[in-house]
Amino acid sequence: MLVTGLEILKRAREEGYGVGAFNVNNMEFVQAVLEAAEEQRSPVILALSEGAMKYGGRALTLMAVELAKEARVPVAVHLDHGSSYESVLRALRAGFTSVMIDKSHEDFETNVKETRRVVEAAHAVGVTVEAELGRLAGIEEHVAVDEKDALLTNPEEARIFMEKTGADYLAVAIGTSHGAYKGKGRPFIDHPRLERIAKLVPAPLVLHGASAVPLELVERFRASGGEIGEAAGIHPEDIRKAISLGVAKINTDTDLRLAFTALIRETLHKNPKEFDPRKYLGPAREAVKEVVKSRMELFGSVGRA
Ligand code: G3H
Ligand code: 13P
Ligand code: ZN
Repeated sequence: MLVTGLEILKRAREEGYGVGAFNVNNMEFVQAVLEAAEEQRSPVILALSEGAMKYGGRALTLMAVELAKEARVPVAVHLDHGSSYESVLRALRAGFTSVMIDKSHEDFETNVKETRRVVEAAHAVGVTVEAELGRLAGIEEHVAVDEKDALLTNPEEARIFMEKTGADYLAVAIGTSHGAYKGKGRPFIDHPRLERIAKLVPAPLVLHGASAVPLELVERFRASGGEIGEAAGIHPEDIRKAISLGVAKINTDTDLRLAFTALIRETLHKNPKEFDPRKYLGPAREAVKEVVKSRMELFGSVGRA
């Protein structure tokens, strides 16, 4: 069933588990995520970026919204990193039940003002809103405190930001970053900062850039001719700890892209004569589904639907 983001995330924060927001760009990803959610009896969030909406167009938004309605578990259809008021309006018109407005690169007052405007529009039609405060950036552990402070979310500012904007959930910057290169070894996560934010902000918190970038997937990608450097993701223990401290929405894109592409490469490499797309997209879809299912286990959302 199609529900708002807040309906899913409020309960997650209260009961201390996380819900995955998985980025989708095509039919195979939408099917993989929804099948995984139904098999795991887990709530889930289908995340569509502006790039996804441009690539997949109405075919993708229709598919996401209509299949979410038919799903046997709660599903929110979410705009990821909405960059403008207009972009949010397009998502609302398409039937999304959750939108993100990302003005984190602006100064505090502009972020408040633009977020507030989106909250008013979205709430008028019963849709809930994610906002972001702080800059998403991979941070080395030894970086000076004031340098960290300049980038990462300030707890007291977060409290004021949520009061002034009326946003429903907040993306925080605590050291994670997007993509396959999140730092050397085990990337640094500022858990003490997260704890301070969570004490002041009762709303569900959101972790972007949370992919694990599993070595097994990196190696399979490489073994089938893919080129990837010193990839590193967020350690599962660091995700578990973040959830215990108040993170309720966990974004995952990179792990799904890696799984999908590794399986396409592997299948075509093993079967050079194959040119039926179903023969390589099918296994790739299965691989995405397996990653989603294991993320749901890590987040503790299995059986919560
Ligand atoms: O945070 C960004 C997501 O990974 C979506 O990426 O803008 O390339 O679709 P995209
Ligand atoms: P990853 O690149 O770590 O998968 O993060 C995705 C994300 O934050 C989407 O908004
Ligand atoms: Zn993100």
